[in-house]
Amino acid sequence: MKGVILAGGLGTRLHPLTKITNKHLLPVYDKPMILYGIETLKRSGLTEIMIVCGREHAGHFMNFLGSGKEFGVKLSYALQDKNNGGISDALLYAEDFADRNNVAVILGDNIFEDNFSKAVSEFKTGAMVFFKKVPDPERFGVAVFDKSGKKLLAIEEKPKKPKSEYAQTGFYLYDSKVFSYIKKLKPSARGELEVTDTNNEYLKRGKLGFSFVSGFWFDVGMFDSLLQASNTIAQRAPKS
Ligand code: G1P
Repeated sequence: MKGVILAGGLGTRLHPLTKITNKHLLPVYDKPMILYGIETLKRSGLTEIMIVCGREHAGHFMNFLGSGKEFGVKLSYALQDKNNGGISDALLYAEDFADRNNVAVILGDNIFEDNFSKAVSEFKTGAMVFFKKVPDPERFGVAVFDKSGKKLLAIEEKPKKPKSEYAQTGFYLYDSKVFSYIKKLKPSARGELEVTDTNNEYLKRGKLGFSFVSGFWFDVGMFDSLLQASNTIAQRAPKS
């Protein structure tokens, strides 16, 4: 399986920080955000990784990460032509890199305490999503379960009235069919090819597995969550 880090977007919610560099190179406690994604993939057993990013400050990534050798991984890069096409659109740039292998996809602004090594090693076909109970599900893709709470019926993207407290995190496993499913998607109301629509496509076919994230999880796309993630990681860092 190969790993893909989606590090696109303009990071407008973090202006003026993101006028200086790419959002994914901003500090989260003691290191640039992108290293957390690389480490999560590495801890999950993936070392062949593609970073998909926008053109803005794209050179900063390469200057900092190079071939990836220093970080124990092998990196490739893809530049997106447009940076507001959505997560599924960004993933299309990794099709040749995936080369018909399964892929693990992580959103570059998602920080996980857990690793996904068990799910990665057990994954064969279909797709897999990972949920986390949160106090503000309306900010995310939200799981809809049946009455038993065991069967996943749908995932709703940023619903005004969430049907559960379980947010879809930014880590996904896909088989090679993902690219053909994405190519058939229509843009959502916000003009994006949504990761939620890709996942619902698998669900419709009975091919979407799910699991839960037990450690901390942050989507650090906003000032408050960026600060909160930094504080949490600082508190847990070993003191010398
Ligand atoms: C995206 C997805 C959403 C998911 C979230 C995780 O949201 O669309 O389903 O819950 O990432 O971070 P966005 O980054 O577009 O706000």
